[in-house]
Amino acid sequence: MPRDDEFLYRLRSANPIETVMGSYVHLIRRGRNYVCSCPFHSEKTPSCTIFTDSQSFYCFGCGAGGDVITFTMKIENLDFMEAVKLLAQRSGLEVPERNNTDSRLAQRKTKIYEMNRLAANFFYTNLIKGKDKSGLQYFAKRKLSPATIKKYGLGYASDSWSELSTYLRSKGYSDDEIIDAWLGGRSQKTGKSYDMFRNRVMFPIVDLRGNIIGFGGRVLNDSQPKYLNTSKTPVFDKGSNLFSMNFAKNAETKQIILCEGYMDVIAVNQAGFENAVATLGTAITPDQARLISHYAEEVIIAYDSDGAGQKATQKAINHFADVGIRTKVIHMEGAKDPDEYIKKFGAERFRMLLEDSFDATDFMLDKCEIGLDLSTELGRVELLNRASKVLAGIESPLEREVYISRTSQKCEIPVQVLKTHIDDMLRRSRRSEQKREWRNIQSAATYQRDDINPEAVKYRREAKAEESIICYLLKHPEECDVIEKEVPPELFVTAFNKKVYSAMLDIMKEHEHFSVSMLSDDFTFEETGRITGIAARNREHPVTGAVFEDCANVLKNYAPKDSDNMSDDDLMDLFKSKKK
Ligand code: CTP
Ligand code: MN
Repeated sequence: MPRDDEFLYRLRSANPIETVMGSYVHLIRRGRNYVCSCPFHSEKTPSCTIFTDSQSFYCFGCGAGGDVITFTMKIENLDFMEAVKLLAQRSGLEVPERNNTDSRLAQRKTKIYEMNRLAANFFYTNLIKGKDKSGLQYFAKRKLSPATIKKYGLGYASDSWSELSTYLRSKGYSDDEIIDAWLGGRSQKTGKSYDMFRNRVMFPIVDLRGNIIGFGGRVLNDSQPKYLNTSKTPVFDKGSNLFSMNFAKNAETKQIILCEGYMDVIAVNQAGFENAVATLGTAITPDQARLISHYAEEVIIAYDSDGAGQKATQKAINHFADVGIRTKVIHMEGAKDPDEYIKKFGAERFRMLLEDSFDATDFMLDKCEIGLDLSTELGRVELLNRASKVLAGIESPLEREVYISRTSQKCEIPVQVLKTHIDDMLRRSRRSEQKREWRNIQSAATYQRDDINPEAVKYRREAKAEESIICYLLKHPEECDVIEKEVPPELFVTAFNKKVYSAMLDIMKEHEHFSVSMLSDDFTFEETGRITGIAARNREHPVTGAVFEDCANVLKNYAPKDSDNMSDDDLMDLFKSKKK
């Protein structure tokens, strides 16, 4: 990794992590450190800590962690170089030329962006100028104007197994690269590659920086599957991007309209509402709710009026409640989705629909009444049971009062009785919430299960020793040569820790200043969090030289117990080493 560490060091110094994080979340001072509600998961009690001395953050609840560059990468959804550029820009530093040499992963991503752009242009030209007019006819039938088609860069993939691949190969891309971008696939039988999108109208998916990250492709008739979407690639993660967010983020309102489908978003946008978005073929995720909350103060859910759409609405409301954003729901009658509504009744009626949209709480309370006969006592009691859960979920005390009083009238019970009941529920749920968060923290610390380093459960003692050694190395990077001599990476037992340790040694030998984000080429965000956590959890009891020696001995004395699991080669090696 030929990176200019002098520059990265200056960059990190110019961007103190507490300042950068403080511009995204509210920080509370705790001595020299800060705590905040973790920006990467939903929680009520703050468990994310910012350590000013090591310039790192670590969330004891979800295990997210890293330095200021890791934080910027995750919160802004950027890769390493992009995050570096953003921080440089904010602090008025110039990124030196030689620092711009991109990593392997960055090069791979750049190629995919290029191929996606070429493919989008290819599909667009094919739609507009191709001999086969079926794509254009389809969009015309759906009442999309040429301007809208152009704005969204919509396209058409012909009924061909090789048209796009042939074109991309002519531009110098290999079959493997085309497959890496999910624009092509490979036949299991013949080993030959083929075009992934065929005979579909194409919707390019654009991220916040204008890169085309993937595609949705819709069939022209009623065949199945209706949509084919780009699967996971190095640049495409369907759970953290939103369709049309590139337009919505510039809308002149602090409101976002959340639709179910690509076609709905495009129809709503064509009707004059720049602020419509949709998820990418899945239910909305907490990540996406959080993304919306960065750009809007209020979200209006405009899902389909069918059962599935209403169910999805309830789920979405919960996610938005978690990120603390005002949520409204439109109530659509006479049409199944916004696209059909606008076609039937026009843009003006849709605007009125938006203005008449009602509060998420109303929506939830209305749902509680379904199937109940409120003229009977039984019906009213059941309504109270159901409504209590909704009422207890309202964050704002004032709002809660209003809805409690309304519900008490409807159920014909004294308001004070209902209020006491809800207060009880709140106290109980706060307590169990705290317990749950605490349990999460505990289990993360005791490794009952370990997704990142699964071997840590089996080799508890060794893994613990490895972590202490890693911790010692983090504290004493200037001694990396001596440390490596004392404990060569081969001695490590668990694969994950071995990889971490070797990667750290490699970097420290070449660079004067180490920081965890320098590992970002080879480690995921979760793994970076784990590495930061190793240091964060050992803060109370720093690893001394003596402890380091003990841990080194644990690894030196380790001998594989279950020789049954060993391959013949491993056994031979063990034999030889024993003989020596
Ligand atoms: N979707 C998907 N795969 C499917 C069906 C749906 O990924 N087989 C996703 C797409 O993102 C789609 C959204 O779910 O946009 C909503 O589905 P639907 O309402 O069926 O599609 P629309 O986009 O509304 O398309 P149309 O109006 O043409 O039916
Ligand atoms: Mn639809």
